Amino acid sequence: MHAPLSELRLEQWNAFVELKKLGLAKHIGVSNYNIETIKEILDADLAKPEANQVEFHPICAQVDLTRYMKENSIVPIAYSSLAPLSTWRVEEGQGGGEVLAEIKEESQFVINEIATKLNVSEARLLLRWGLQHGYGVLTRSSKPERIRGNLKFFDFEIPDKDMERLNRLDQNQAIAWASSGVNPMEAPPLK
Ligand SMILES: NC(=O)c1ccc[n+]([C@@H]2O[C@H](COP(=O)([O-])OP(=O)(O)OC[C@H]3O[C@@H](n4cnc5c(N)ncnc54)[C@H](OP(=O)(O)O)[C@@H]3O)[C@@H](O)[C@H]2O)c1
Repeated sequence: MHAPLSELRLEQWNAFVELKKLGLAKHIGVSNYNIETIKEILDADLAKPEANQVEFHPICAQVDLTRYMKENSIVPIAYSSLAPLSTWRVEEGQGGGEVLAEIKEESQFVINEIATKLNVSEARLLLRWGLQHGYGVLTRSSKPERIRGNLKFFDFEIPDKDMERLNRLDQNQAIAWASSGVNPMEAPPLK
C-alpha cells in the first residue's frame, strides 16, 4: 500500500491479507506508514506488513520508526536515498530541484567530505549509509553509467565515526513529497 492516506486503510490492508491467503500475492507490505499507523494494523489483529518502504537518508533518518520496525521484524526499505544530492530529480516536473535546497546545502559539505575521503561517489555513500542501517535501498537513474556506478556500494564500508557524522545530519525532514504539499505519513482518522 503506497501510503496510509485513506480513512479506509484497514479495510484496504485486510484485502491485501486476503490476497495473500488466496495465494495471489507472495509478500505484502506498506509504504509511508509510521509507528501509529502500523499499530492500528496490529491492534486490529490483522497480519502485520512484511515490509515498510519509507523516505530514508541522513536528513530524514526515521530513528524511532527504524527501531520500531526492527523490534517488530518489519523489513525496512528506503526510498529517495539520494534526495540530499543537488542533482536529485532536477529535471522539469520531477519535484526535486530547488526543494528544500537550503537544508540540503548544509548537509552536502559533510557528505562530500566523507565521500572524497573514502574515494566513492556521494551517491554510493548515501546508498551504503542506508544499507549499513539495515535498509533495503531502492534507487533509480535515467543514465546507464550512473546505474552501473551506483550499484557498487557493496564493496566498501563506512567507518563508525563517519556513520555517526552522517547520522548527526538528521533533521527529521522528508524531502521526496515536499513539492506536492502532501505529507504521506499524515494519516486521516479512521472511519
Ligand atoms: N513510496 C513512496 O512514497 C515513494 C516516493 C518516492 C520514490 N519512491 C520509489 O523509490 C525509488 C527511487 O526513487 P527516487 O526518485 O526517490 O530515487 P533516488 O534514487 O533517490 O533519486 C533519483 C534521482 O537522483 C539522480 N541520481 C541518480 N544517481 C545519481 C548519481 N550517481 N549522481 C547524481 N545524481 C544521481 C537521478 O538523476 P538521473 O536520472 O538524471 O540520473 C534522479 O534525479 C523509485 O522506485 C520510486 O518509485 C517511492
